[in-house]
Amino acid sequence: MAIIGTIPRRAVNLPPGSLATLLGSIVRGRVQDGPAVEAFTTKFARWLDTPHVFGASTGRSAFQLALEALDLPAGSEIIFPVFTFPVMPMVAKILGYEPVFCPVDPQTWNVGPEHVEPLITEKTGAVLATHLFGRPCPIEDLAALCRERDVRLLEDCAHACGVRVGGRQVGTFGDVGIYSFAQGKNMPCFGGGAIAVASDAVARRARKILESAPIDSAGSLAKQGLSVWIKWLVTRPLVFGLTAYPLLKLKQMLGKDLMDSAVGDDLIEKFVRSDPKTRRLANLQGAIGLRQLDHIDAFNQGAHQNAQVLTEGLAGVTRVRVPPSHGDHIYVYYPLGVDAQERDSLRHHLLRRGIDTKRTDMADCSQLAPFRGAETGARDPEPAEATLLEICVYPVLSERKMRRIAKAIREWAAS
Ligand SMILES: Cc1ncc(COP(=O)(O)O)c(C=O)c1O
Repeated sequence: MAIIGTIPRRAVNLPPGSLATLLGSIVRGRVQDGPAVEAFTTKFARWLDTPHVFGASTGRSAFQLALEALDLPAGSEIIFPVFTFPVMPMVAKILGYEPVFCPVDPQTWNVGPEHVEPLITEKTGAVLATHLFGRPCPIEDLAALCRERDVRLLEDCAHACGVRVGGRQVGTFGDVGIYSFAQGKNMPCFGGGAIAVASDAVARRARKILESAPIDSAGSLAKQGLSVWIKWLVTRPLVFGLTAYPLLKLKQMLGKDLMDSAVGDDLIEKFVRSDPKTRRLANLQGAIGLRQLDHIDAFNQGAHQNAQVLTEGLAGVTRVRVPPSHGDHIYVYYPLGVDAQERDSLRHHLLRRGIDTKRTDMADCSQLAPFRGAETGARDPEPAEATLLEICVYPVLSERKMRRIAKAIREWAAS
């Protein structure tokens, strides 16, 4: 069984010294509160070149903070891409807004003005543009449309922290940018999230909301930090080969599921049961964020280069579809397209070659129970999530490994 050279589905990206920061925060009683939150949000705002940044406990909590601070009229419609992380429209629904779904570009999975505009009505309060998988939307055109139609533009940058369009950071083109620092993103901070806000009035409301917002207990924050650090350790390629990989192989042999996370309706149910609230970013998370900002641009650049190597290695392979490369795509995940009925065959083939891959957590929201009957524009009904495999291209993996992934895919395509 291959143990050396195995490749995890996602490699958690923590900065050097994270364990020391975690233990130090616990010993000094600085897990929940302390100066790192202010220091981090100030540094993040400077890096984004935006006037205001506020922290939250997760990306979804940051979105809740954004909607509360925007204070749209009750019952307003919010336009989402139909193919997205389904927790986001659920946040809007819980807050009493009406999610409306617009089609996405079948090549990029992103939305442009041509998808959004036909769905704008008198009731539209906002549009959430998601820079999916790290590829920027045509955000300048979307911003122009939203300005012209007087609707708020929010940017979901959970996959796009550090992406620039024309030199300007995404998340700063609209009214509010939303970021996630969860373990599977490019800038994990033992969990956490943030919003970037352009207007002083929205910033004042966000500050006020946070003054009375709760924070997770020190115990659960420390436990979460430790769990993310363990996942960092287990996703180092050598450790992965000795621990998770043999387990995955065993599951594959027994025909069991490959340790997949909850998706679709199950994910939404889990979220609703979690008592969704706007919660504050913790000092521990801010302390990791401060360190992450020193590394994130180099990290994104490394993922971009690895993705180019993989794309080049797959040139001419017609059984898979590579994501179109474009400008400042940072490939938080590399979404490889494959016919729905062939996806599992490819996934199992790669796992036998030591390469783990991931089902996507994104979903066609029009197919999910809470959103049945919601307005959707005219669209291709293909079930998008079943046609994608996410591949890790993080720079913890060498170029040689990227070429190995390409070779294994070519081998499958020729079989
Ligand atoms: C596109 C997108 N938006 C928002 C989120 C929410 O982030 P968090 O998990 O930190 O709440 C996610 C999480 O996976 C996501 O993929």
